[in-house]
Amino acid sequence: MVKVNEYYARVGNNYLFSEVARRVREYKAARPAARVISLGIGDVTRPIAPAVIEAIHAATNEMASADTMRGYPPEAGYDFLVEAILEHDFRARGVHLSPDEIFVSDGAKSDTGNIGDILGTGNLVAITDPAYPVYVDTNLMAGRQVELLPCLPGNGFCPSFPGRPVDVIYLCYPNNPTGTTLTREQLKKWVDYAIEHQSLILFDAAYEAFVSDPAVPRSIYEIEGARRVAIEFRSFSKTAGFTGLRCAYTVVPRDLTATTSTGETVSLNATWRRRQATKFNGTAYIIQRGAAAIYTPEGQRQTRETIDYYMQNARIIKECLERLNLTVHGGANAPYLWVKTPGELSSWEFFDRLLNEAQVVGTPGSGFGKAGEGFFRFTAFGKREEVIEAAERLETLFR
Ligand code: MLT
Repeated sequence: MVKVNEYYARVGNNYLFSEVARRVREYKAARPAARVISLGIGDVTRPIAPAVIEAIHAATNEMASADTMRGYPPEAGYDFLVEAILEHDFRARGVHLSPDEIFVSDGAKSDTGNIGDILGTGNLVAITDPAYPVYVDTNLMAGRQVELLPCLPGNGFCPSFPGRPVDVIYLCYPNNPTGTTLTREQLKKWVDYAIEHQSLILFDAAYEAFVSDPAVPRSIYEIEGARRVAIEFRSFSKTAGFTGLRCAYTVVPRDLTATTSTGETVSLNATWRRRQATKFNGTAYIIQRGAAAIYTPEGQRQTRETIDYYMQNARIIKECLERLNLTVHGGANAPYLWVKTPGELSSWEFFDRLLNEAQVVGTPGSGFGKAGEGFFRFTAFGKREEVIEAAERLETLFR
C-alpha cells in the first residue's frame, strides 16, 4: 500500500497564489464583463529586452545546424553565463567568488524549495513572518520544525534573533512581501549570529536589482564572514523579465559546511552539486544565452529602463495610497508595497472589497504568514496604464 508524505497535511490545500488566482477566476466567470486589474502576483508585464531577444534568436539558429546545436547543458551552467555573473554581479562590487560556486538553474522558487534536499530534517529553521510562502511550506512538507520571526512596523521589519539557537535562517532582502530592506549593519548582525551559532543563512536576493540606496547591500557576500555561513539565491525573473523564460542561479560557497549525525564535516557546495547532477538537467542553452545578454552594455541599459519603469509604478501606487491616508511600507528599493488595511478589515476582507468594488487584485498579507494579517501587498509589475487606472479606482472607492 502506498504511503503518502503526511507532512503535506501541515500545509493548506492551496498555494497562496493559486488560491488568489482561483478566486479571481470565479469572480470573472460570474461577471464576464468585469475588467479586473491584477496587482497581485509579482509577474512581469514589460517585454523582454531587445538584447536578450536577439541573443535568444541567435542561439535558436545555432540549434538549427548540426555544427552548432547543443544537447544537454552542463548542469551548473555554461561558462559564458557563469563568467558574466561573476564579473558583473560580484567582482564589480568587490566580491570574489569562483566559477564552481555558481549554480545556474531554472528559478529561485525551485532552488529555495529544493535546497532543503541537502539539509537534515532535524534542523530547526527560522523564517521571517511574513515571508514568501515557499520557505515555510517546503520546510513543513519535509517535516522540519519552523520558528517564525515576526517582522512588523514596530521592529522596522527587521527580525529579532530567535529565542533559541536555530540551525537555518531564511532572509529575503529586499523583502518579499513587505518591500523593506536591511542596512549593511543590520545584515552584519545576522551574519555574526550565524557565525556564532554555526547556522546557515539562506539569503534570497531575487529583488536586489531594485535597490538604489547605497546603504542597502545587494548581496550578502558584501558582508564580511558571509562566505562561511550563507547561500544566496538570485533570479533573472524580476531583474530581466524571465518569469516565463526561467533562469536563475544560486551561490554555494566552498567554505560552507554542515555536519553528519556522527560528527563528520561535509561540504555543502559538493552536496548541492551532487543533488543538482542527480535531479536537474540544466537550463536550456537558448535561455542561458538570453540571460548572458543581460550583462552586455545594451542589455544593462535596457533592463535598467524596465526596472525604472516598475519603480515609477511603485511611486504611483504609493502616492495614491498615501493620499488615501493609508499606511504604506516598501516600494522604495523593492517592487512591492505593503499596506495596512483600513479599519479592522482582515487581509482577505480587504482583498474581497477591492475585487468586488474596484475590480483590483492584490495579495492578502495573511497569505504570507500570521504577522501579515491586517496587511495587503501590491506589486509594481503592472502595465502603466493599468496601474494608473487601479490608482483612480482606489481613490474613487476610498474617498
Ligand atoms: C510573488 O508574487 O511573490 C512572486 O512573484 C512569486 C514568485 O516569484 O514565485
